[in-house]
Amino acid sequence: MGKIGKTACIILAAGRGTRMKSSMPKVLHRIAGRTMIEHVLDIAKPFRFRPTVVVTGYKAGDVAQYAGGSRTVRQIKLAGSGDAVMRARGALGRYKGDVVILYGDTPLVQQATLQKLVIRHKATDAACTVLTARLKDPSGYGRIVRDEGNEITGIVEEQEASLYDKGIDEVNVGAYCFKADNLFKALKKVRANNKKKEYYLTDTIDILRKNNLKIESLCADSEEEAMGVNSREELSKAEDIVRRRAQKKFLDNGVTIIDPLNTYIDVSCRIGRDTVIRPYTIIEKDVTIGSNCTIGPFARIRPGTRLADKVEIGNFAELTRSRVGIGTKIKHQSYIGDAVIGKKVNIGAGTITANFDGKNKHKTVIKDGAFIGSGTIFVAPVIVGKKAVTGAGSVITKKTKVPDNSVVVGIPARILKKKKKKGD
Ligand code: UD1
Ligand code: CA
Repeated sequence: MGKIGKTACIILAAGRGTRMKSSMPKVLHRIAGRTMIEHVLDIAKPFRFRPTVVVTGYKAGDVAQYAGGSRTVRQIKLAGSGDAVMRARGALGRYKGDVVILYGDTPLVQQATLQKLVIRHKATDAACTVLTARLKDPSGYGRIVRDEGNEITGIVEEQEASLYDKGIDEVNVGAYCFKADNLFKALKKVRANNKKKEYYLTDTIDILRKNNLKIESLCADSEEEAMGVNSREELSKAEDIVRRRAQKKFLDNGVTIIDPLNTYIDVSCRIGRDTVIRPYTIIEKDVTIGSNCTIGPFARIRPGTRLADKVEIGNFAELTRSRVGIGTKIKHQSYIGDAVIGKKVNIGAGTITANFDGKNKHKTVIKDGAFIGSGTIFVAPVIVGKKAVTGAGSVITKKTKVPDNSVVVGIPARILKKKKKKGD
């Protein structure tokens, strides 16, 4: 991220989100496992905006928990986006520089776009630079009004838009860079004389313009960046966009995803080349997968899991907080939790690590080359030696010793024999 100089940031997240039909504040709804407010904070993160102020309102305490260490100020009465920005003023103190404003319900803006916006703002010495987008269906958004010289003269909200305005396909995305003093002076002049009786942040554009101040804009490259999430339908569209963006990262790095529509991979994961992800697979955050692995169909790989190269995970296998060595196979109906599994281990169908005793989680260690019979249950903590074999249906408890090269069977398992060492 290039240097952009000292800049503050205000994120508006006070709204209730009536159209979500939810008891939860809108910005706490999740996209790809993370709340919308976290997505917006992520967009801002690399810019190191100081200070970053999150305006909370509806269920302020709940939202503040996701503000990630940013300052929060509370808007008591939800009197509009302009009023919300005014509430943040105190937190900025005597700050005189530029202020970026982002909306908590606009989580798809790309960092590169925001960077261009801020750079343009600084290069043109504008009072405000607005991020716009051209939409096939602009309804619901504030429309960008321009004069004959193509200069922005204002933003008109859907509620106030005339039939002519409604035909404008350039919309206000909800990401701006303002000069702080121009912003707050203009906000003082905003009146709530509109249908919603709200103080619109967007009215500052017309005010600044009438004061002969310069308004600049940047048009986003893609429609999807502009999307505001106001309803469950938009939430599911956003989910789809975020999922596709994450998948592109893996595809570009040489991973095959057979059925992108039915595959979920957290963008934070690392997956090596020539690994194939089969349909209906879920790979959650904090997972690393090596190269030349096959995962799925119907596999769930949960946080804290590390798979080495050439690992095969099959249908209805769930892994969490586990490490799996090179060439190991876990192909059918297994639960592997808190396990450390070595190289070239074969885990039979239906194997379970019973890792939780009701209070604590315990570890299962399975060493290189072990062959785990179908339906084995490990009542952790347990250790299985190298090249050991467990019989089908055996139950291994912490009292069961499973030395290297041994064969154990039964409930609870006991040693049947020691295998002869053949060497490697
Ligand atoms: C807003 C913009 C519109 C733009 C659209 C983009 C205004 C007046 N309109 O419309 O031009 O095209 O976003 O998605 O800004 N908020 C508060 N306090 C309030 C009211 C709102 O913090 O009192 C926050 C909301 O939490 C939300 C953001 O401001 O994050 C936008 O509010 P919302 O009511 O969703 O505005 P839109 O009608 O979508
Ligand atoms: Ca909105």
